[in-house]
Amino acid sequence: MANALLVAGLVVLGLVGIQLSLQIATGTAHLRFLRTHRRLAHREWQTRIAIAEARLADTKTQAQEWRGFRKFEVRKKVFENPAKDICSFYLYPHDGKSLPRFSPGQFLLCQVEVTNPGESSLNLGEAEARCYSLSDAPNYENYRVTVRRLSPPQGTEDLPGGVVSNYFHDRIKEGSLIDIEAPSGDFYLETAKDTPVVLIGGGVGVTPILSMMNSLAAVASARETWIFYGLRSGEDAVMLDAFERAAALPNTHVVWSYSGSIPEAFADRKDTPNTVLHRKGRVDMDCLKEILPSNHFDFYFCGPAPMMAALEKGLGEWGVPERFIHYEAFAPESSESDTALSAASETLEVRFDAENKMIAWSGEKSIFAMARKNNFNTKRIRYACRQGKCKSCLTAVKSGTVAYPHVQPEGGVEDGYCLPCICVPATALELDA
Ligand SMILES: Cc1cc2nc3c(=O)[nH]c(=O)nc-3n(C[C@H](O)[C@H](O)[C@H](O)COP(=O)(O)OP(=O)(O)OC[C@H]3O[C@@H](n4cnc5c(N)ncnc54)[C@H](O)[C@@H]3O)c2cc1C
Ligand code: FES
Repeated sequence: MANALLVAGLVVLGLVGIQLSLQIATGTAHLRFLRTHRRLAHREWQTRIAIAEARLADTKTQAQEWRGFRKFEVRKKVFENPAKDICSFYLYPHDGKSLPRFSPGQFLLCQVEVTNPGESSLNLGEAEARCYSLSDAPNYENYRVTVRRLSPPQGTEDLPGGVVSNYFHDRIKEGSLIDIEAPSGDFYLETAKDTPVVLIGGGVGVTPILSMMNSLAAVASARETWIFYGLRSGEDAVMLDAFERAAALPNTHVVWSYSGSIPEAFADRKDTPNTVLHRKGRVDMDCLKEILPSNHFDFYFCGPAPMMAALEKGLGEWGVPERFIHYEAFAPESSESDTALSAASETLEVRFDAENKMIAWSGEKSIFAMARKNNFNTKRIRYACRQGKCKSCLTAVKSGTVAYPHVQPEGGVEDGYCLPCICVPATALELDA
């Protein structure tokens, strides 16, 4: 009898246990479901906010964009790296009005009066303009650009350093005024999207990537993001804190890759999947294939020419469709070596009317390259990007036609004008320059 009662008791206890376990399991599953649901809802809201912000930005951009140059005051100048050859300039509109937002990745055309330009044959006049990428997230009050002081290329130390970058470093102070055109450029991150992205910056080419990265951090983005920063050594490293902030985002991974030595401060650091990973080597296809889970990303990159060429080719070979490959070059593909690219089928005459000068084109990459080869400068043709992006060199064609065999002008060119930095004569040519 006692045994039967014991068995019955055990059976009851067993049944209660099973029911309790079932309830706990159901409860846990329910909790998990609620958490996932909340996370998805949060993510959806973040996406909606980002889309709304992007639309608002578009509206404000249309409303406040300006034409031509506008005066900006440098209110803060900050050296960013231990070597002190990379410096940020915080720019505030002199008229005190608010600014149009920009898309992260775009650049400003900055013009300065170079009073002591040295002997550079690249210097075509006193007012010199160059493109500088916006290096921070958009806001309505100020812009930031980050400029690397450019030395003469290796092996040509007798040449002068870069005119405008050195001018920025040496002469532009807090309180200086600079002429600036409204943000432009078609290399930018679409912040209204939620698709996975890879952002790659090499050397000072990290500036547009910083803007993209900070824009994602500003909206606490949950977008899957992989950020690669390629640099030679700790001497080149800029804005570590911005990378740390990005690494704290839920779906963001940051990789610092040193082609030289890893700074001592990071040598013993334990990397975790989501925190900054310090590795040795270049950011190349081997690096991407080793670290990325797949090739299903939009890739954005900017850096030294060899890195860019290798990535563009390598990503294509890895099966990444062209529309997912986005990049910005800070300089033309090769420095316009003054040699002719190919033998021209005929020699064409280019007449610079205002200067009363005639030069024969014989296959050089552009009219700009042809002028440099012949040591000819005309103050009528200014240049900044030398890649058909900024229209600084826009020149009226008085007679004849041009062709764009290597690079197409960004946004086209009005009839009757040409961009000498990328065009070549298609017939004998007369320019208002
Ligand atoms: C879209 C875009 C965004 C950019 N963003 C940035 C940015 O964020 N940060 C940044 O630092 N840069 C950026 N740049 C590059 C920047 O616009 C300038 O090209 C750079 O600062 C060099 O300008 P510079 O006037 O100092 O050099 P330049 O005077 O134009 O000289 C360029 C190089 O030529 C050398 N040189 C001088 N004379 C000769 C000669 N006779 N023959 C051959 N070589 C000679 C110089 O030593 C120098 O190395 C960007 C460029 C573009 C197109
Ligand atoms: S220099 Fe920028 S378009 Fe020619």
